[in-house]
Amino acid sequence: MSSISKANDNNGDQKRQQQQPQQLVCVTGAGGFIGSWVVRELLLRGYRVRATVRDPADRKNAHLLALEGADERLSLRRADVLDFDGLLAVFAGCHGVFHVACPLSNRDPELMAVAVEGTRNVMKAAADMGVRRVVFTSSYGAVHMNPNRSPDAVLDETCWSDPEFCRQKDMYCYAKTMAEMAATEEAAKRGLELAVVVPSMTMGPMLQRALNLSSTHVANYLTGAKKSYPNAVAAYVDVRDVARAHALVYERHDARGRYLCIGAVLHRAQLLQMLMDLFPQYTIAAKCDDKGKPMVKPYEFSNQRLKDLGLEFTPLRKSLYDAVTCMQRNGHLPVVLP
Ligand SMILES: NC(=O)c1ccc[n+]([C@@H]2O[C@H](COP(=O)([O-])OP(=O)(O)OC[C@H]3O[C@@H](n4cnc5c(N)ncnc54)[C@H](OP(=O)(O)O)[C@@H]3O)[C@@H](O)[C@H]2O)c1
Repeated sequence: MSSISKANDNNGDQKRQQQQPQQLVCVTGAGGFIGSWVVRELLLRGYRVRATVRDPADRKNAHLLALEGADERLSLRRADVLDFDGLLAVFAGCHGVFHVACPLSNRDPELMAVAVEGTRNVMKAAADMGVRRVVFTSSYGAVHMNPNRSPDAVLDETCWSDPEFCRQKDMYCYAKTMAEMAATEEAAKRGLELAVVVPSMTMGPMLQRALNLSSTHVANYLTGAKKSYPNAVAAYVDVRDVARAHALVYERHDARGRYLCIGAVLHRAQLLQMLMDLFPQYTIAAKCDDKGKPMVKPYEFSNQRLKDLGLEFTPLRKSLYDAVTCMQRNGHLPVVLP
């Protein structure tokens, strides 16, 4: 990381450390890519954090115990969102719950159950245990997958993916759409305050050791695993912005509903050009699968709701730089000299 970007990060950390709410909050899926950054953000803001993982003894979760503030204010607890009684136990005494856990793979046989039934369990258990606010991590897969949306329309919080279209095209998007609908329905039924963070493809450095799915999106172009790229656009956001968004919507007591968490929308060719500029030493796919056809145009989007809460989005260039150098340090990418 450059000294400038390091200084910026440190300034932000110091500012957040001045707040000491000392409230107890619980995070599901705490050991994952986004969950770990959410835990870090909450610790920096002074919260006591009950970080839940499926196996607290698994060394893959050890990074949580090394976070700043973890000694005094983090407890690592077991919770599977399919186990309702286990959720009751971990939510006891909590002011707030951050429900981050969900498999990302279309191939995970538990995807639908964990996403939908797991989310209903979380909402019901939170209400039963007197939790006041829930922050749910949705996905832009629950927003942009709609064949009837005009390519000229601005993507914002009013947009919903079409469940039937998702079910045919992408089970993950289907699962996240149904999960967000379930969270909204249960919150309304049980009088829970719900704020939903809707991240797009999430980039940036990893706190955990294992490579997560959205980081492989970039790694595959640098290892040569991808020989060509699709004629497609995607929306991206920095993982540190996603974590801050979770904290911001939690702390603003009047924050309700969806908050689209997108920093940039790019054609894949633009993303790869940015990677080539930053890391010219790697051989990156230069051939489009759809050669000869018109390039798909990036769509407009609005992240104004989060900006209004004070979130400043990190430039994608910095997210990519930090993601790649982190993957190099952790041995996920060969370190090729320029
Ligand atoms: N990464 C992205 O690009 C992106 C974009 C938009 C939205 N999201 C959403 O952000 C959330 C976190 O994603 P991520 O990228 O951080 O993925 P990740 O690193 O794979 O983390 C997923 C977490 O879910 C947990 N989990 C899976 N099944 C569970 C169950 N039955 N009970 C409890 N925990 C369970 C996993 O715990 P174990 O360690 O025990 O397996 C893991 O910690 C998900 O809701 C995802 O849909 C991610």
